[in-house]
Amino acid sequence: MKILLLGSGGREHALAWKIAQSEKCEKLFIAPGNAGTSNCGENVAMKADDFEAVKNFCVERHIDMVVVGPEDPLVKGIYDDMKADARTKDIPVIGPSKQGAVLEGSKDFAKAFMARHHIPTARYQTFDGEHVEEGLKFLETLEAPYVLKADGLCAGKGVLILPTLEEAKKELKEMLGGMFGNASSQVVIEEFLSGIECSVFVLTDGDHYKILPEAKDYKRIGEHDTGLNTGGMGSVTPVPFATKEWMQKVEDRIIRPTVEGLKAEGIDYKGFIFFGLINVKGDPMVIEYNCRMGDPETESVMLRLKSDIVDLFEGVAQGNLDQRAIEFDERAAVCVMLVSGGYPQEYKKGYPIRGIEEVQGSIVFHSGTSLKDGQVVTNGGRVIAVSSYGKDKAEALQKSFEEAQKIRFTDKYFRRDIGADL
Ligand code: AMP
Ligand code: GLY
Repeated sequence: MKILLLGSGGREHALAWKIAQSEKCEKLFIAPGNAGTSNCGENVAMKADDFEAVKNFCVERHIDMVVVGPEDPLVKGIYDDMKADARTKDIPVIGPSKQGAVLEGSKDFAKAFMARHHIPTARYQTFDGEHVEEGLKFLETLEAPYVLKADGLCAGKGVLILPTLEEAKKELKEMLGGMFGNASSQVVIEEFLSGIECSVFVLTDGDHYKILPEAKDYKRIGEHDTGLNTGGMGSVTPVPFATKEWMQKVEDRIIRPTVEGLKAEGIDYKGFIFFGLINVKGDPMVIEYNCRMGDPETESVMLRLKSDIVDLFEGVAQGNLDQRAIEFDERAAVCVMLVSGGYPQEYKKGYPIRGIEEVQGSIVFHSGTSLKDGQVVTNGGRVIAVSSYGKDKAEALQKSFEEAQKIRFTDKYFRRDIGADL
């Protein structure tokens, strides 16, 4: 099969690494990819959300399957666009339809969907600019801290957690006044949930599903979960509190109702569902849905997937995912993210990265890198994920921390406490 993978981050490098191992993959293209993905296949200079370019490429290069990494092309409707074009309508796309991607693209839609299907989540109400007063009143019925969520996509910046009612009211007015542009024309206000978070991933063909290994990611820039939120500074799988019993609750109360709910509502969904969960006194509740894999969770989860991922994708495309085997590695896997100094605020790009070839026994996934005159250079806030196996998480983490020292670039930073809370 000739496969086109869309995206350019660490998630896509990890997916490319896994896809390239499949005997069913004859040729892999990554668009636009990064310096690392070029070791798994051929990078194509094409934006993931330039649908015309993607479709033309599919036709010219006889692509048999398109795998979508990031949410952006999905929310913009790449699945529907390919289906609507006679030239590409029969090429399977791994990723939901535009309607399915709304689970991530609109917090209000996701909350209403969960309410319709009795899926456990925080109590909420949604308000627009015409109903600011009602929003302020609803805040008064809640207890601190206060959670405000811009309805639309905000590159991970649309959620505010505020310690006082006064601040929450001020921010609500600002959000509805256009703080995040159109994305905050509606704001979801919800009850604060207290517990440890866990990411659960499912691959579905719309009827059947397979649950992938769960993972925990570390969002804050500073050690001991301090400082600003980032895209993710590391991940660990398995998660100790996600026992068999707990995962059974997740499947019964959250996963099955979600997949059945999508089907019942006639929403075409063939791809990954990412459940952002929180463990509230032993009970899983949904914080958010995403319509794709997590980053940096993919950089550890892919290590634990023993089965051929292309075989699973084929099951998604053919609607017979139930007939495909899925097996996991019993070992722990982790990733530690090396980032540019200054991230998630201002940082410089273009620094040469040295020492990658000295890494032994860990897997290096590129996140924000590019090639400049044959040299790998930094090209983003999150630069490189160092992923490792271990008999347990402690061993895997020690390995990643050791190997992370070997990779050198100006102002490199990473958290040395990934997994320490588990
Ligand atoms: P989201 O973009 O919805 O994942 O929210 C970003 C982060 O905000 C989550 O990963 C949580 O850490 C936090 N968060 C969101 N909603 C809540 C909530 N209802 N209670 C507590 N924390 C939350
Ligand atoms: N790691 C969280 C995300 O991918 O959204």
